[in-house]
Amino acid sequence: MTMRKAIIAGNWKLYKTISEAQALVKQLREELVDISDREIIIAPVFTALAPLAAEVAGSNIQLAAQNCHPAVSGAYTGEVSALLLKDVGCTSIIVGHSERRQLFGETDAFINAKIKSVLAAGLQAIFCVGETLEERESDEMFEVLTRQVREGLLGLDSMAMENVVIAYEPVWAIGTGKVATAEEAQDAHVFIRGLLAGLFDGKIDGQTRILYGGSVKPENIDGLMAQEDIDGALVGGASLKAEDFIRIVRFTQL
Ligand code: PGA
Repeated sequence: MTMRKAIIAGNWKLYKTISEAQALVKQLREELVDISDREIIIAPVFTALAPLAAEVAGSNIQLAAQNCHPAVSGAYTGEVSALLLKDVGCTSIIVGHSERRQLFGETDAFINAKIKSVLAAGLQAIFCVGETLEERESDEMFEVLTRQVREGLLGLDSMAMENVVIAYEPVWAIGTGKVATAEEAQDAHVFIRGLLAGLFDGKIDGQTRILYGGSVKPENIDGLMAQEDIDGALVGGASLKAEDFIRIVRFTQL
């Protein structure tokens, strides 16, 4: 039995208008009202954050942003800072999602700067790492994870790590319906925990929560959560349907 409190986070990506988002949150709020032994986080599009902040106020649902810019303010047309996301009511920010890395060319150094800005704002960073299919098949998986974790967390100390959650998301399992087996995910989580043990003093490796992401569904969540080193899930597609997300939040604890 682990002491790490589970997190189920929904990444809504570029879906849902404000009214659609409000309707979904209302349902989640009502049907998950009894949940207190696990953290529930939703990450809607930027434009829905302010209306949803009002919607989740006083509930057990926390708001996250899907991205931020590392600068506090300045001439960065089109960008949003961690401080402004805190201002609108976010408590966490997803950083380094594979779609940001692949489609928007985000580097490990840029992601590292973002994580630092999230922590400086007093928010929790949900830091995504994961290998592509090509990298896995050419046996570069551990090398890639090592680079992403090391460079993404560069310059952070053990205290800062208390506000970092890692999400292991194998790119080949995102939006593909191809979930990593619970054992494959567990192996990657153990490897990442080992990296943390090497990078930080003390008990950080045992305290840091590592989420799995990539085609998480009601049908596979229980098996994933039964793994010792899987502390929760970052859910894309299935977080857009109330029924599915509710079932995922209500995973069975063995
Ligand atoms: P998916 O997305 O659950 O739709 O595979 C996960 C993610 O991108 O975080």
